[in-house]
Amino acid sequence: MEPILELESARLVMRQWHDSDLTTFADMCADPQVMRYFPARLNRLESAALIGRIRGHFAEYGFGLWALQRKDTGAFIGLTGLMHVGFDADFTPAVEIGWRLAREHWGLGYASEAAWTALRCGFDRLPVEQIVAFTAQANQPSQKVMQAIGMHYDRAADFEHPKVAAGDPLRDHVLYRITRGQWLDTLHG
Ligand SMILES: CC(C)(COP(=O)(O)OP(=O)(O)OC[C@H]1O[C@@H](n2cnc3c(N)ncnc32)[C@H](O)[C@@H]1OP(=O)(O)O)[C@@H](O)C(=O)NCCC(=O)NCCS
Repeated sequence: MEPILELESARLVMRQWHDSDLTTFADMCADPQVMRYFPARLNRLESAALIGRIRGHFAEYGFGLWALQRKDTGAFIGLTGLMHVGFDADFTPAVEIGWRLAREHWGLGYASEAAWTALRCGFDRLPVEQIVAFTAQANQPSQKVMQAIGMHYDRAADFEHPKVAAGDPLRDHVLYRITRGQWLDTLHG
């Protein structure tokens, strides 16, 4: 498969990571609001390591979490994309869709716009029949993005995230899914 290095939406370029993205990315991954539904914030070294893992996923599979750049200002604002789920669960192996934006770019529709573009890319260009998304039960903003792009909550698939410590309330996760058929319905309905 040709690697999918770049995508474009109305207001965003979804591109490969630049070394200069690290400062903003590390700031957002250290922001308690951005990381409210994650077990821990990241320090600069951990953010750099995460960018390294994202680049590694692109190198291995030809798709991944794209860096988002606003067309109007040129600013790097976060990430959205597709990746293989990195742990075992009832719903794996699976490709998941995910997003994380810097706080000053929330409430403007960028996450849903990028998510829609990534989802379309998944069904247009990857041999997948289903894409999943998951987040902590309390993370309503993320679930709103899932709903906005036509994903369906699978109540029976609620699960405890194996990488979150037992006893941590963030361990309880919800699972959303969308099949290729459902995605085609959203296009034509
Ligand atoms: C999850 C997250 C990406 C959602 O960001 P967001 O900006 O709220 O999501 P959207 O891009 O869909 O924007 C929707 C909001 O923009 C508003 N909006 C403004 N202009 C818009 C436009 N042109 N199109 C769509 N929505 C628009 C909507 O009304 C909506 O506002 P509301 O939440 O008050 O109803 C963000 O909260 C985040 O980065 N959180 C931290 C990281 C995280 O939890 N990631 C998920 C882990 S699983």
